[in-house]
Amino acid sequence: MSNLYQKLINYAKSDCYPFHMPGHKRMINDGMSPYLYDITEIDGFDNLHEPEAVIKEEMEEAARFYQSKATYFLVNGSTCGLLSAICALTSKGEKILVARNCHKSVYHAIFLNELFPIYLYPEYIEEFGINGGISPQKVKDMMEQNKDIHVVVITSPTYEGIVSDLKEIAGIVHEKGGMLIVDEAHGAHFGMQKSFPLSALSCGADVVIQSVHKTLPALTQSALLHVKGDKVDCNRIEKYLHIFQTSSPSYVLLAGITNCIKIARESMQNGYFDQYAKRLDDFYQKVSAFQNIRIMQSNIVGKSAVKHFDQSKIVISSRNMNMTAQRIYEILRDDDHLQLEMCSGDYMIAMTSLMDTAEGFERLYQALKRIDESDRNHVHHKEINWDTNSHEEPFCFRIPQAKVQKRISDAYGDIKMIRLTDAKSKISAEYIYLYPPGIPIAAPGEMITEEIIALIMQYRKAGLTVYGIEGNNAEYVKVLGQE
Ligand SMILES: Cc1ncc(COP(=O)(O)O)c(C=O)c1O
Repeated sequence: MSNLYQKLINYAKSDCYPFHMPGHKRMINDGMSPYLYDITEIDGFDNLHEPEAVIKEEMEEAARFYQSKATYFLVNGSTCGLLSAICALTSKGEKILVARNCHKSVYHAIFLNELFPIYLYPEYIEEFGINGGISPQKVKDMMEQNKDIHVVVITSPTYEGIVSDLKEIAGIVHEKGGMLIVDEAHGAHFGMQKSFPLSALSCGADVVIQSVHKTLPALTQSALLHVKGDKVDCNRIEKYLHIFQTSSPSYVLLAGITNCIKIARESMQNGYFDQYAKRLDDFYQKVSAFQNIRIMQSNIVGKSAVKHFDQSKIVISSRNMNMTAQRIYEILRDDDHLQLEMCSGDYMIAMTSLMDTAEGFERLYQALKRIDESDRNHVHHKEINWDTNSHEEPFCFRIPQAKVQKRISDAYGDIKMIRLTDAKSKISAEYIYLYPPGIPIAAPGEMITEEIIALIMQYRKAGLTVYGIEGNNAEYVKVLGQE
């Protein structure tokens, strides 16, 4: 048996608890082997690319459930939904207004359609060192300054659960004659219980993309694309879905989407969503007594353009702690067998879903409580700067302003590798980013500024992996040969 296959079997047997995607949390154990149900488009099973029967009916059912005009099943994740939506709604070479903290698939769509991006920068939540929401006023200003923009793309919620004021933003975009695409990859559960934010569709977005696999009980890669706005040409969306989706869609994934919607509907009716919301409330209440660990709570709402906060994302901050986030993440994984979704800089994310158990929440609470207590008794796990005798600077994920010199699609040709320290004022030929969260520090075609060089050095010094930098000691960058 292959190593990966065996590793998965062993992992499934372990007591490791998943505070990460997918949202089914490996809790659906109906004895179903994927091999038994893995078919292709045989007679009687319809065709995702030309749906006429069962897949069409299931997509119509999903549209009724999510209250969209049309809903499409995606088996290549939100990635293919974002690529399709942006390519369908824009014409080659035009401007597009996008939040700088968008997923890389948005940048890839910009590349494919040779678009000229105008960036919207999220506000900043100083207290946690993470990005806040997108200010509606900024959307308005940018659309007034760039009257030729007619497509706007916003990520809401963010990976950390930050939700922007989409009602206000949709109103502005529509008033200016534009269309709003919302990357709601992390919000497929929105609107299903009153504790969760309203969905982007109900706030007036024209196209919404959701990864059901992230926050609902669905299999990895399964996602939805919803259309609501009358201005959206569904034929164009379908044309691009043909291009970006595999021609051999997995029926296991497709049936998993339909089962996920069934579970979600039943959970809204039978109180499971209420039970989940209550578990979250109890958890947040208990952790508010911690002294050193800080957990993001809904009191961030109303500042930094944050309209709502999705409580399903447990954002654990190690700022003001003696232990680093990486150390805590490792303790949780190795000692407590709790696998978190991510750790970056000085915070971690534990992702929860409807499928989390009371026992899971209790294990996380007890482990964090113990770490909080031990952190109070142990000083200086963090590196100390002996020159200043102070702790390291807190991490800063503030996004530097992009100085766009060329479109991403034009950033090719004579590419050179030079030392990062010599790269000031050169044009990047690569995406340079931290993953997670994956937001570009520089994209191809953008100038490498002093601020960017300093930020990369700071991340490297902190032991974080900066992608797009090469060499054994990560000291080289790819730049365009300059005229
Ligand atoms: C904000 C955001 N949008 C889109 C995606 C892409 O989603 P998928 O993995 O379903 O393709 C991700 C993936 O992590 C994401 O975090």
